[in-house]
Amino acid sequence: MNDMKTFAYKAPAELLKDKIILVTGAGAGLGRAAALAYAHHGATVLLLGRTEAKLEKVYDEITTSGAPEPAMFVLDLEKADENDCNEVANIIATEFGRLDGLLNNVGLFAPIVPLEHHSLETWNRLLKVNLTSTFMLTRSCLPLLRAAPRASLVFTSSTAGRMVRAYWGAYAIAKHGVETMMQIFHEELGTTSGIRVNSLNPGPCATALRRVGFPSEDPSTLPKPEELMPVYLFLMGDDSIGESGKQFEAQGPITLYETD
Ligand SMILES: NC(=O)c1ccc[n+]([C@@H]2O[C@H](COP(=O)([O-])OP(=O)(O)OC[C@H]3O[C@@H](n4cnc5c(N)ncnc54)[C@H](OP(=O)(O)O)[C@@H]3O)[C@@H](O)[C@H]2O)c1
Repeated sequence: MNDMKTFAYKAPAELLKDKIILVTGAGAGLGRAAALAYAHHGATVLLLGRTEAKLEKVYDEITTSGAPEPAMFVLDLEKADENDCNEVANIIATEFGRLDGLLNNVGLFAPIVPLEHHSLETWNRLLKVNLTSTFMLTRSCLPLLRAAPRASLVFTSSTAGRMVRAYWGAYAIAKHGVETMMQIFHEELGTTSGIRVNSLNPGPCATALRRVGFPSEDPSTLPKPEELMPVYLFLMGDDSIGESGKQFEAQGPITLYETD
């Protein structure tokens, strides 16, 4: 059985002052909203995504708001290899020397089909973007997270990664893998570093990814990414020190599940 705790959270204005935070998939949807929320709470945000124009737009939004100047990494994580991830980490090491937070947010979805009709091509793409690239980038960034006094490592999951449901295919299998990766990193880093490791499930949210799976759904019935930011902020700020190995829900009051 999992124990459940819920609480309301409002982030202090300077929660993330002087923190360096890398956000993947920062050009749109939840990653964009998180990058803006982190910057507006004082962080220097490192924006990683595959579409330069979208990252530039987020970059401009941050700089015109007066928040700390961000940095940009244009990288397609579907094509990226270990060298690309190491290069990102090397640049961060040279420019900033550490990472206080890594939000693994990048995500790719595909229309749901029975597993027996899943093409291998779609399987490979979904596993690469949602699971393998997250592992590669996290591994490359571990020395930077260790170099920070109290770093936060966050994995983005899904309800599909916490329950078994028909038709969700490789997306669900990848997200179950993300949850397991979170737990293993937590077990391995918890006693040997100051890094806390958690996962969060945004729940249904009005983004492009959701529209791929539910094209006939009215997006106005879903929360917007900006409405889910309390948990994103909580997990990156020092208010979450001591929380590790836990599964958070982003909707409603902050909800976390603690495994026995
Ligand atoms: N929205 C939901 O209902 C929901 C529910 C549960 C979990 N989630 C999870 O939440 C996370 C964010 O999803 P979202 O809904 O915000 O999706 P989204 O609106 O589609 O945004 C995903 C972001 O990731 C970027 N991206 C996709 N493939 C990439 C690649 N190969 N390399 C680099 N960047 C790439 C996209 O770039 P482009 O804009 O250039 O395409 C976009 O900026 C995902 O992990 C998703 O699984 C979402």
